[in-house]
Amino acid sequence: QTVYLKDYQPVPYLAGEIFLRFVLEPEATEVASRIEFRPNPAVQRKGAPLVLDGERLELKSVQLDGELLDPSRYEVTATHLTIADVPQRPFTLEIITICHPKANSELSGLYVSSNVFCTQCEAEGFRRITYFYDRPDVMARYKVRIEGPKAACPVLLSNGNPGASGPIPGGDCHFAEWDDPHPKPTYLFALVAGNLALARDVYVTKSGRKVELRIYVETGKENRCGFAMEALKTSMRWDEERFGLEYDLDIFMIVAVSDFNMGAMENKGLNVFNDKYILALPETATDVDYVNIESIIAHEYFHNWTGNRITCRDWFQLCLKEGLTVFRDQEFTSDIRSRAVKRIADVKRLRADQFPEDGGPLAHPVRPVSYIEINNFYTATVYEKGAELCRMMQTLIGRDAFRKAMDLYFARHDGEAATVEDFVRCMADASGRNFDQFFTWYEQAGTPEVTVTETYNEAARAYELTLEQATPATPGQADKKPVPIPLGIGLVGPDGRDMPLDLDGVGVLNEPLIELNEAKKTFRFRNVVKKPVLSLNRGFSAPIRIKNAAPIPEQLFLMKNDGDTFNRWEASQRAAHALIRARLSGGVPAADTKSFIDALRTVLTDSRLDDAFKALMLGLPGEQEIATLIGRDIDPGAIHEARDALRAEIGQGLKDVLLDLWRKTESHAPFRPDPDETGRRSLRYAVLQALAGGNAALGIELASEQLAQATNMTDEIGALSTLVTLEGPEREAAIAAFHDRHKGDHLLVDKWFALQASAPLSSTPARVRELMRHPDFTLANPNRVRSLIGVLSMANPFAFHAEDGDGYAILADTILALDPKNPQVSARMATAFRSWGMLEEKRQALAKAQLERILGTTGLSRDLFEIVSKSLGR
Ligand code: ARG
Ligand code: ZN
Repeated sequence: QTVYLKDYQPVPYLAGEIFLRFVLEPEATEVASRIEFRPNPAVQRKGAPLVLDGERLELKSVQLDGELLDPSRYEVTATHLTIADVPQRPFTLEIITICHPKANSELSGLYVSSNVFCTQCEAEGFRRITYFYDRPDVMARYKVRIEGPKAACPVLLSNGNPGASGPIPGGDCHFAEWDDPHPKPTYLFALVAGNLALARDVYVTKSGRKVELRIYVETGKENRCGFAMEALKTSMRWDEERFGLEYDLDIFMIVAVSDFNMGAMENKGLNVFNDKYILALPETATDVDYVNIESIIAHEYFHNWTGNRITCRDWFQLCLKEGLTVFRDQEFTSDIRSRAVKRIADVKRLRADQFPEDGGPLAHPVRPVSYIEINNFYTATVYEKGAELCRMMQTLIGRDAFRKAMDLYFARHDGEAATVEDFVRCMADASGRNFDQFFTWYEQAGTPEVTVTETYNEAARAYELTLEQATPATPGQADKKPVPIPLGIGLVGPDGRDMPLDLDGVGVLNEPLIELNEAKKTFRFRNVVKKPVLSLNRGFSAPIRIKNAAPIPEQLFLMKNDGDTFNRWEASQRAAHALIRARLSGGVPAADTKSFIDALRTVLTDSRLDDAFKALMLGLPGEQEIATLIGRDIDPGAIHEARDALRAEIGQGLKDVLLDLWRKTESHAPFRPDPDETGRRSLRYAVLQALAGGNAALGIELASEQLAQATNMTDEIGALSTLVTLEGPEREAAIAAFHDRHKGDHLLVDKWFALQASAPLSSTPARVRELMRHPDFTLANPNRVRSLIGVLSMANPFAFHAEDGDGYAILADTILALDPKNPQVSARMATAFRSWGMLEEKRQALAKAQLERILGTTGLSRDLFEIVSKSLGR
């Protein structure tokens, strides 16, 4: 059942053209395929059978070179069609199959979402549409003809450029043809058909190609695509400017659907999106939604080159397209918004999602070596850590060399299915740097830990920095090698300014960067006239953990003085973390809290700092982050309390400053989702949270007032998400009113469920159970499940880890009910259990019992089995 990287074999037959004809019917869609095969000259096995993937298909007929094959000539199993005897020259295979879109609840392959036919083929969904080599190293040219009822499916879409279309004589059906000139693997195939409205625009590429842009959405929502369309045009321009990459078809289409397993999908020329990442109006979408829409539009668009033009040889290489494309979308957002804010947001996400993954039973290298179900490997490690590896390579060779390496990558591999080795070789060849040791980053799981030792000799003006690295063992990888760690560095003098970095044996560094590539290394700096405060891993230059953070006073100094914005924020997190931990172990000197609050005051009243940064400084590390850092014997209730207590002190201690900011951040200007306005609103929200933390009555008063006046969803949700944390009649009234106001809008109903599931109250698990019986709740829609059960289990540690284990029971009940319908989503939900081993004994037993209960259930999907068995260490 397990697939291994080492077993990779090319296919014995290659495909040239594939012609697909669909006759659409929700219950039973007929798919006729005609594929040109030829023996693969690179493969010696003469006469190998043709083994094609196919699942849940009804096979009607097989023709080889025009001759109908007797069923004795082939074998059909639940997963394959095998033809033992095929010609050892080019031949044409024609297959007719039936699939059942309406009954497809897995949302993989061809399915129906709100009466719209749509497809999701990554990673292995194409095999549920017809028989073919469903693997990324088989690239073919697709021609598609779609036939369907004119009334139910006025819109008929597939990849590439549009061809002929028109009515089909003698009925109420019509057809449309599509031709994609770029060879592609099966996972990039897409088909969409239904009654959809559209927004249109035009984009002219830098070399003058006119591209028609279309975004298709549910009828009546066409006015909610404006922001997505602008983001698309901005993305297209950015990729030309930053990477020299132009779009390559006459048309680019996006379709928004409401039932989707993931965020979005980069099908060639026909991206399909979860509609929550397309639809936005000020009164329906929050700032967070706007930022997500912009970056996901960019991400999927950027895949056109990093993923589609150059794809992956096999699914072990997934990070080749995903890590790189995340890196590219991060750079995009950094360029068009604030680099510092984006970096902080990404590191927060890495710490909240990837670090726990890397430190738990599901840890795997950025390039895994085995899997049971590939869909389980669309992980924070492959995506986010994968992006960090690209970033480190850019840091090590510089932006110019990185761009040269990217150019080389496209020159060498355009039109191919490549490997991570191919990519890294381009980095090496373009820069002249040896990347052999760097490759360990791709192969080794776990977050490296760096221990810092400093000595300073004032008389000799010598500052010595000794760094030691170690990576904790992960499942299947006991012994770890050192990795090259690029570390942004500053030695901050007492005046708050950086001192020159005069490294013994090297001289003054051009770049403020050192590299730790051994287990232990000492860096000697000369001419350090005053004892410096070390600012290390500036900009979060490497995805590591610094084991022994400096004491609170140094953090407070950096909070006020560090020239690196990221580390300024980082210092606030470290200080807060230290204060919370001190509380957890039963005491904290009042003086430390007071000086932390004073440092925050300095930041909040500094008129040179922007609102977004102030908001981030006011945000304490999340409960999940704190738990991951502590790592063992976790009591989530105690962490919540300690964090809340610090928040209360901040709210009380800074009440004057906060109230002042509350007044200053008020605005009645029309809504704009730009960086300044988004920053202002994020500060206003952080201020409200802090004030509410310090004084519940004041929180209720301010939040109620904001709710009453809100003219956009950001302010509305900001106020409500504060109110829902504060038990009282206002809370229930506001929840009821929100549903009343927004019940016709499924994305807002999702928010309504999420708000309640996110409340860190002891009543939340019971409320979630109640909401599971609400008429608006359904297991059939992934967004709905994620809004209620996903938020409870992944974004509300206090309630999820309720002492009686009810949070765990709710999650397990949901997973078991969902698994037969949609294994991808049930498996994803089950990852919320992954950190059970670091809990305190009682909760550990409760969580483990639920995992055992799931594993003991018969008929589990492969997806869920893999996550649960690995979580239990089996
Ligand atoms: N390639 C998509 C993206 O990152 C993700 C789709 C993954 N879907 C899946 N079912 N595994 O943009
Ligand atoms: Zn992607």
